[in-house]
Parts: sequence; C-alpha cells; structure tokens
Amino acid sequence: MLSPNFTPFPEIKTDRLLLRQLTLDDAPGVLQLRSNEEVMKYINRPLAHSLEDAENWINVIIDALGKNDGITWCICLKEVPAVHVGSIGLWRIDKENHRAEIGYMLEPSLQGKGLMYEALKKVLEYGFSEIKLHSIEAHVDPRNASSSGLLKKADFVLEAYFKENYYLHGRFVDTAVYSLLTPFKEFQ
Ligand SMILES: CC(C)(COP(=O)(O)OP(=O)(O)OC[C@H]1O[C@@H](n2cnc3c(N)ncnc32)[C@H](O)[C@@H]1OP(=O)(O)O)[C@@H](O)C(=O)NCCC(=O)NCCS
Repeated sequence: MLSPNFTPFPEIKTDRLLLRQLTLDDAPGVLQLRSNEEVMKYINRPLAHSLEDAENWINVIIDALGKNDGITWCICLKEVPAVHVGSIGLWRIDKENHRAEIGYMLEPSLQGKGLMYEALKKVLEYGFSEIKLHSIEAHVDPRNASSSGLLKKADFVLEAYFKENYYLHGRFVDTAVYSLLTPFKEFQ
C-alpha cells in the first residue's frame, strides 16, 4: 500500500515553468481558466462563475493534499511565479493498486508551445519515482485532440474505450482511457 506524503509541498521546476502549491490567492487565475468555455469544453465540471466558485475548487485541492489523497500543482511561468496560468495534478490516487489519474489545463494563449509537455514529463517522473506509482491513467474525450496528442507524445497508450459512459454538458459521450506504466524496474 502506498503512503504518499506531500509535506513539504514538492515544488517542481522545468526549463520555462515553476510548478508550485495552489493557494486561495490564485482564485482570480483559476476563475479566468475555469470560466472559459473552450478550456472546459471536454471537462465534466461546472463552469466557474465567481471567485467563490474558484475558491471552492481550490479548497477541494487543498483538502485532498492535506489527506495525501491527491496533488495538484499551480503552473506559472518562471519569470512570473505569482501568476497562475494552469494546473496539473495527480488525483484519485489508488494507494492499494499504486495507480493515479492525471489531469491538466493551460491558459489558451500559452497553448501549443510545448509547455504542458514540459510540465507533464516532470510530474510523471515525480509520480513514478517519488509517489512510487506503478501506473498513471488519463480519461479523455476522444474529440479532445490536444489532450490525446499530448498523452501519445508522452508514450501513453490507449487502454480502454467506453461508449457513451459519460454525461457531459447534456449528452452522453465516449471516454478514451490512456495509461502509462512505470519506467522504473524497482516499482514494476
Ligand atoms: C491539453 C492541453 C493541456 C495541451 O497543452 P499544450 O501546452 O498546448 O500542449 P503542448 O504544446 O505541450 O503539446 C504537446 C504535444 O501534444 C500534442 N498536441 C498539442 N496540441 C494539439 C492539437 N491541437 N492537436 C493534436 N495534437 C496536439 C502534440 O503532439 C504536441 O507535440 P508537438 O508540438 O511536438 O507536436 C491544452 O490544450 C488544454 O489546456 N486544453 C484544455 C483543457 C483540457 O482539455 N484538458 C485535458 C482534459 S482530459
């Protein structure tokens, strides 16, 4: 059984990004992203309409972190570390089966520059080497070409395909489940 410990919070640096702890001060940035219909198009969460909605979401993240049940990083450009431009997290950590689900989103003006790939590679490394996960999965709407393209670039493989199992914005849609096994022999 895994027993992850996210205290102190593990900050991560990439070439261009700082991945740091999300706090209630990030609510305006979270609101901007999570109120954007295009960003949320394939994500089955209600749009944020107010700072209070954003704060509620941040509190869920803080609560999961405190219980070591999940970890979400606030993505910032290194030169502006106070400004939230996205998030990436490992959640639904299944401690018994050493498995977790990954999720991410990025400010639209910064998409298409390889930034999420940069973040994803480091978070996967953290998940496999520090949390000692055996596998990481991602649930994707098959129409979400950027997310499935990102996962394939990071060597995820399509593991399952569910027909109309997901009720999204008023209709049933399919789910593609991608997964990646640990590259570390000692955790295989
Ligand atoms: C998915 C998302 C995080 C990708 O972030 P990004 O920083 O734009 O992705 P990157 O620039 O790092 O792209 C990495 C790779 O992903 C693939 N990719 C990215 N955008 C793509 C697109 N529109 N179509 C196809 N493949 C794409 C490419 O293989 C790309 O590598 P390449 O540039 O060498 O070809 C971003 O589009 C996003 O925030 N979407 C909205 C939220 C969302 O849908 N989250 C996922 C829910 S499952």
